[in-house]
Amino acid sequence: MKNIILTGDRPTGKLHIGHYVGSLKGRVELQNSGKFDKSYIMIADAQALTDNFANPEKVRANVTEVALDYLACGIDPQKSTVFVQSHVAELTELTFYYMNLVTLARLERNPTVKAEIKQKGFGASLPMGFLTYPVSQTADITAFKATCVPVGEDQLPMLEQAREIVRSFNGLYGETLVEPKALLPENKSCLRLPGTDGMAKMSKSLGNCIYLSDSADEIKRKVMSMYTDPNHLKVTDPGNTSENPTFIYLDAFSSDEHFQKYLPEYANLAEMKAHYERGGLGDMKVKKFLNAVMQETLEPIRARREELEKDIPAIWEMLKKGSEEAKAVAGETLAEVKKAMKIDYFAE
Ligand code: TRP
Repeated sequence: MKNIILTGDRPTGKLHIGHYVGSLKGRVELQNSGKFDKSYIMIADAQALTDNFANPEKVRANVTEVALDYLACGIDPQKSTVFVQSHVAELTELTFYYMNLVTLARLERNPTVKAEIKQKGFGASLPMGFLTYPVSQTADITAFKATCVPVGEDQLPMLEQAREIVRSFNGLYGETLVEPKALLPENKSCLRLPGTDGMAKMSKSLGNCIYLSDSADEIKRKVMSMYTDPNHLKVTDPGNTSENPTFIYLDAFSSDEHFQKYLPEYANLAEMKAHYERGGLGDMKVKKFLNAVMQETLEPIRARREELEKDIPAIWEMLKKGSEEAKAVAGETLAEVKKAMKIDYFAE
């Protein structure tokens, strides 16, 4: 069996550092690892419309932003097929057939969807498109026979749903679809990077994100005003590092080399944490170091992004080509699905 990656993002905003360590960085490593036969990266505009259907301009504008973020981070269109979900109509057709294999009760149990419904305050006016997006996500994954789906932790229920549909389909109609596996980052701090304000999640509406496209000044301002340990009032106070976003970010981003370069009095993060925990290390010093680390990490991404922004038509051209390629692959799977379901009346 082939090793195939498929993953994607909803284009509802520019990507931030949570996306980067949670999934993007890993995708680039996988793309370059040579261990995969194929890698597909999808801009999930149709899924984004399930809760932004009244705001198509926003989705449209962010298709370009997300594509720029991908390429800036090192997604290479020579190695990965980058495409737009709405331009692969086969995915919608697959979704319709998969709908038969999922109950309403099952969809309502999906913890991520449940949390989103609550957060968005849909109440009784919950659009069907939104509730059923995990089924469409199953179509995205299975259309490419993906074996491996690198995503953030919040996407695990979607993968569980996809596996259930695959098993149900194969059981009813014969072995056709491939069961996918999620791939999460090993570094626990990368799983869910908190916001700069200490809230559990980075979210545009909370204004607590550092974006991949932020300027050096914006990054500095955001890092220097980050939430830390509220009980660490004086430098001499013992501090908490495990629930402190500045240290969680350092867990996710810093390396021993960063210490050698910017803060050689500590050999590594463990030493710095121990100092903070016993007292005597001030937040300002931690933030200055974190700022140096973040600047070093984000500067090359921002520089590449600025270059790419100069030729937006080239971005659309790449997406068009990728979408055509994706359409051909999804079409093959759709033909197999129709054959298995005995609706291939006119096939040769
Ligand atoms: N649900 C994902 C998100 O919110 C986007 C997505 C759509 C996706 N289809 C996918 C991710 C298929 C992985 C695989 O970002």
